[in-house]
Order: sequence, then C-alpha cells, then structure tokens
Amino acid sequence: MKPRARFLATLALTAALATLGAAADGGPALKARFVNDDTPEVATVRRVGEDAINRLAVTLVREVAAALAKDSPEAAVDVCHLKSLTLSHGTVAGLPRITAVKRTSLKVCNPANAPDAADQLALDLIRSQMENGDAPSALLVQRVEFPSAPPEWRVYKPLGATANCLVCHGDPAEQSPALRAKLNALYPANQAIGYAAHEWRGLIRVTVADAPAGKP
Ligand code: HEC
Repeated sequence: MKPRARFLATLALTAALATLGAAADGGPALKARFVNDDTPEVATVRRVGEDAINRLAVTLVREVAAALAKDSPEAAVDVCHLKSLTLSHGTVAGLPRITAVKRTSLKVCNPANAPDAADQLALDLIRSQMENGDAPSALLVQRVEFPSAPPEWRVYKPLGATANCLVCHGDPAEQSPALRAKLNALYPANQAIGYAAHEWRGLIRVTVADAPAGKP
C-alpha cells in the first residue's frame, strides 16, 4: 500500500473505531464504520452510490446555474436544491437502489439537513483529512447499524463551492438586501455562509439498498 493510501486507511479505521456512545437525543446509539474492502458487495455499493451521486451532483449544479440565469437570486432560493426529487416505490426515480438522498454539512442552512451521528463521522473524517493537509477521500462507503432498524449502506461524496454557490453561501455583505431578507426569513438559523470559492461545502449522501438475496 502506498504511504498516502495507508494514511487514509488509518484515518478511516480511526473513525470506524470511534463508535458512537449515545445518540444526541439520548436514545440508543447507532454504529457506523467506513468500509474499504474489495468484496463484490462493497464494490457494487460503491459503484451504484457513486453513479447516483454523480448524477445528482450534476443536477444540483445545473439547477443552481439555471435558476440564477433565469431569475433573481432570491427567486432561486425556492429551487435549492434537488427539491424536485421524489421517491416512488421507496426509491429515487431512475435510481432503483437509492432509497434516500441527503445533503449535509458542518454548517447547515436548513437544520433539517443537519448530520445524524453517522453523517457526522463522515464530515469529521473529511475535515480531519483536510486539516492534516491531505486530499479528502473522493468517496466514502459506510455501513450503519441501528438498534431497531435494518442496517444500511451509505455513500458520501464531498461537494465544493463554485462561484455560483457563493451567491447564497458566500459573504452576506455581498448579497442584495432582497436575497438576505429572504434567506433570513426562511432560514433564521442559517450557518451556511462565509464560504470562499473552491472551499469544501459539504457532502452529498445516498443510501443504497442491500442487494436482493443471492446477488452482490
Ligand atoms: C440561490 C441561493 C443558493 C445557491 C446559489 C446555492 N445554495 Fe445551497 N442552499 C441554499 C438553501 C436555501 C439551502 C437550504 C435548502 C433546504 O431547505 O434544504 C441550501 C442548502 C445546501 C446544502 C445542504 C446543507 C445545508 O446547508 O442546509 C448544501 C450542501 C448546499 N446548499 C450546497 C450548495 C452548492 C454546492 C451550491 C453551488 C453549486 C449551492 N449550494 C448554491 C441556497 C443556495
């Protein structure tokens, strides 16, 4: 293993061992570990998850660009982001193994996007990689076990902020009063400001359903 790969694997292992004591609400803890093995099952989860995330990320970036080109930034707030995604039969349309999609961050605009304990491990892992001056993992695969629900596969990918993103997530002093007023009214607890171009903004996460029995 190359030194860099070994370093990343060590970090992943450290995070994996950081099994969570108690959930934030005091309920029973979930357990989450990052998985790097090359088993057919993990390889399939990684591929299915990455394909889905790539499609979703392109949609997100396009939606933002189209909304900003068509209308004022304050009107664009209404379409941010991926809000048109709907689940049918419990999966995202066109992505039959994707049972959930989430965007999360260390600083959220909408508290509904706040990380759960397993998401937090993924955020902490990327943050520690960057603090160590290392390249962040391009993709994370995680197995999450819940006290009273079936386990699930999650795949995460870091998202960077482009110039378009900074219209809303950059310096509020550069926003128009109308945009600032709208964001403040809809998102009074907004923390997702002050980003610079190319800064790490957060994660896109998909949940990948387990394969049908007998298939990887
Ligand atoms: C027109 C304003 C606007 C622009 C431009 C914008 N966002 Fe957002 N962003 C929002 C709003 C509003 C939310 C909260 C959405 C919700 O209610 O879930 C949000 C939420 C997010 C979240 C989820 C975590 C959170 O903060 O709640 C991520 C990640 C994110 N944006 C990334 C981006 C990226 C990457 C871009 C550029 C491609 C971008 N945003 C451009 C307004 C914007």
